Amino acid sequence: MKFQTERPASWQTCMHCGNEVLETSPLARCNVCDGLLEVRHRPPDITPAELIRRFTERRGGVPGATASGVWRFREVVLPSAESVVSHPEGNTPLLHRVALDRWAGLDHLLLKHEGHNPTGSFKDRGMTVGVTQALRIGARAVACASTGNTSASLAAYAAQAGLPALVLVPAGGVALGKLAQTLAYGARTLLVRGDFDQCLRLVNQATAELGVYLLNSINPFRIEGQKTIIFELLQQLSWEAPDWIVFPAGNLGNTAAFGKALREALEWGLISSRPRLAAVQAEGAAPFAQSFADGFAQRHRVKAETIATAIKIGDPASYERAVTAILETNGVVLSVPDSEILEAKAAIDASGVGCEPASAAGLAGLRRLVQQGTIEATDRVVAILTGHILKDPGLLLRYHQEMEPLPPGANRPAEIGPDIRELERALRDKSAKVW
Ligand code: F0G
Repeated sequence: MKFQTERPASWQTCMHCGNEVLETSPLARCNVCDGLLEVRHRPPDITPAELIRRFTERRGGVPGATASGVWRFREVVLPSAESVVSHPEGNTPLLHRVALDRWAGLDHLLLKHEGHNPTGSFKDRGMTVGVTQALRIGARAVACASTGNTSASLAAYAAQAGLPALVLVPAGGVALGKLAQTLAYGARTLLVRGDFDQCLRLVNQATAELGVYLLNSINPFRIEGQKTIIFELLQQLSWEAPDWIVFPAGNLGNTAAFGKALREALEWGLISSRPRLAAVQAEGAAPFAQSFADGFAQRHRVKAETIATAIKIGDPASYERAVTAILETNGVVLSVPDSEILEAKAAIDASGVGCEPASAAGLAGLRRLVQQGTIEATDRVVAILTGHILKDPGLLLRYHQEMEPLPPGANRPAEIGPDIRELERALRDKSAKVW
């Protein structure tokens, strides 16, 4: 058929015979000749200049460093930097999913997804500033120890800057996606037979002896970049500060950065109230939570163990500045077992959002804080998701395909031959989740 009357705003046309069907038609192919369909639109009823103006307005920034969610805040990050190494990065979304409100027990939970950064984690925000600084001081190479995300980010930004990068990671202790990125971006990668804490001690020694620029989060310029997670989320909330900001904690760079950002935002009149920080560790890697529990009377160190390899850290480097952040914000620190991290991750993944295991620790901790009444259902809460779901595909596949007994959120695939009967049988299988 062909539309005889005025055309609707959009419709579908068969590319083979020209048959036209409604925009809302559920047909997968043309019902006349089985050809492929194409969506067509009436021309917009405004001038091309007006159309371009609308597109520009909605884009909200011109190309270059101004498009970066870090350098947009340059007055409070590194005002004197004139030329910067920017991907660009930041501009991560604030997400809302009703399913996760329900899971956490809150009326309205917002998720700031830092996995939307160019290398898939919040590390890019610190690294754009760190590598910019490396060039400013004339560094001849950059280095870090890492549980994987810092190394992926360092490798990418060093490649962009044309600087050699050296990374030390625990052998067998880094998620697949992160190691693959680090190698692909071209960093010299050393797999150390030891844990992250040993890697960090070694890289400290090495940078002193080799004269390369250290870009772990003890580097203060990294912290300046990571502050923009907070500035950007405050801007997204029209500078109405939330009651709580909840996030996973390992080496405590973010805890330190968040505390500093909130101190400055308050001092400089950007916000009028200070959110409370809730830092969440994995139970097997919770030295900071232990220190919090004894009123920060002493610094704890542990031999770390958790499935959330990003935060498998026993002797966090930014301990002192993180203590200040928690005390200043009347914050809390807690730990959650791996089983709850996996449960939270399954809920986040099944909501269509997805994140890496360490990121899910934040939400697991949030649910505990709601259950114990520290956070109320009506509180305004932002949870930071620190890394992308594809960072750790190894764990995902183990969880869904292999783990016994079957975890509650597991989505086991079934293998079939290319045969409609086998397909029907598979869909009748009662143990499969959806059908
Ligand atoms: N979440 C993810 C995904 C991380 O990669 C890290 C740290 C954290 C949370 C904890 O943040 O250290 O600031 O307390 N990853 C570092 C790395 C250690 O080497 O990639 P933190």
